[in-house]
Amino acid sequence: MKLEVGKLLYQGKAKDVYETDHPDQVMVKFRDDITAGDGQKKDKIGKKGYYNSIISAKFFLLLAEEGVETQYLDLPEPGYMLCKKLEMIPLEVIARNVAAGSLVRRFPFQEGQELDPPLIQMDFKNDEYHDPMLNDDIAKALGIVTQDDLDYIRRVTLKINKILKNFLESKGLMFPDFKIEYGRDKEGNIVLGDEISPDTCRFWDRETCDILDKDLFRKGESGVIEAYRRVAEIILDEDDLEKWSLDPE
Ligand code: TMP
Ligand code: ASP
Repeated sequence: MKLEVGKLLYQGKAKDVYETDHPDQVMVKFRDDITAGDGQKKDKIGKKGYYNSIISAKFFLLLAEEGVETQYLDLPEPGYMLCKKLEMIPLEVIARNVAAGSLVRRFPFQEGQELDPPLIQMDFKNDEYHDPMLNDDIAKALGIVTQDDLDYIRRVTLKINKILKNFLESKGLMFPDFKIEYGRDKEGNIVLGDEISPDTCRFWDRETCDILDKDLFRKGESGVIEAYRRVAEIILDEDDLEKWSLDPE
């Protein structure tokens, strides 16, 4: 079934945002496109949008239960997320519990080294400038955020990290790092938006050390969709699985 949506408002590398009948709500379509390296490496992976939407919905619901305000309103069908409309802030807010990825490429950390307390890093979300790392002064001078906004984003991100890390560890997954994005609602409140999925997080199986995220694609390895399905299988409970099948048509 294809859901009725309004006008296309915005097209990102992996999601489309559509108008709805409600002025304060948008419908986000999770596509199967997958990219890396500022979109230089591209592919389409069947069912990726499906899995990312159910995984993100699960995380958003979990965070809402713990008092984190999110953009999520409903998943009328997997692949389509009804969301509160936000003016997105061009920040990629990254939390790191274990050194991996660009952190070990850019700094003398060992891959797998624990980072306690966790690190918060903010990058400027801008493909033209290749998402450079920011500091508070640069972010404020760019006019993106105030110091109060930065303090709030940092506090909420640490809270999100704690909730998700505890949840994932209870399921046997390590949570080395993740990236989230925030936006402002029409009242000006900063709200968690975008997605939380294997496209935007690192998930490692604690026992087998298997990589269960987009790093497989970044490294040109096989089994990408199997890894995404596995994450869904690990985090969804029986009630979730009644609504969202792990094996769609
Ligand atoms: P990094 O180690 O490559 O900087 O990535 C840190 C985290 O951010 C990792 O969980 C993957 C996620 N991420 C995105 O969601 N989008 C991006 O464009 C990049 C580079 C990383
Ligand atoms: N999100 C970036 C891109 O799509 C890079 C990445 O996730 O590795 O190009």
